[in-house]
Amino acid sequence: MNQELWTTVDEYLIDALIPNDPALDAAQASSMAAGLPAIAVTANQGKLLNLLARVLNAKSVLEIGTLGGYSTIWLARALPPDGRLVTCEFEPAHAEVARANIAEAGLGDLVDLRVGPAIETLPQLAGPFDLSFIDADKQSNPEYFQWALRLSRPGSLIIVDNVVRGGAVANGTSDDPSIQGVRRLHEIIATEPRVDATAVQTVGGKGYDGFTIALVTS
Ligand code: SAH
Ligand code: DHB
Ligand code: MG
Repeated sequence: MNQELWTTVDEYLIDALIPNDPALDAAQASSMAAGLPAIAVTANQGKLLNLLARVLNAKSVLEIGTLGGYSTIWLARALPPDGRLVTCEFEPAHAEVARANIAEAGLGDLVDLRVGPAIETLPQLAGPFDLSFIDADKQSNPEYFQWALRLSRPGSLIIVDNVVRGGAVANGTSDDPSIQGVRRLHEIIATEPRVDATAVQTVGGKGYDGFTIALVTS
């Protein structure tokens, strides 16, 4: 592990390619000031989500796990004025910070923030969503993936964050519910004929982790 180097390189990449953005900077600062955990995607990861949404020409995005709205803002920025983003957050205190950050970014009309356990919110939603970003409690990844798939159409993309967890995902006998949730997710994807998927390891300011990306094919 070489966290110091990964952080230095992330700082370089972000500085080189991602212009300072007042709304995103403010969202980070207010999340920190409110004592939210520092687990939002990094700027370069957020930009990747934004670029993927634009490649898809996404008009509708589903996010599970809002925190302070940092990834929400990156994703909502990819949408046209008549687009919509539904984001699900369990913690009212997180949702309150997110709501302010999203409004401050001028995205209040695009974003529909639902407070409560995602497993109760998801059955109330109408799809299809062009892109789903799953980033909440990891033990529920299997259920969230199945909901995202149900709320997709052929051509939709489903992205799951934190699927490597410092390498712990490779441990098939782990008793950590988060790891079990990620492994079960991959089993479901592997046997699901309606999706085609990959997963990639990442290093950076947030450590050693990864994304799973599934394309809905039918
Ligand atoms: N996507 C955010 C980070 C999300 S952190 C970003 O990158 O900026 C994970 C979030 O999921 C936390 O805010 C946590 O409160 C929320 N969460 C945990 N369990 C949940 C549940 N059952 N339903 C909805 N949200 C949940
Ligand atoms: C954690 C959650 C995340 O969504 C993340 O990107 C990193 C860490 C966590 O719960 O520890
Ligand atoms: Mg995450």
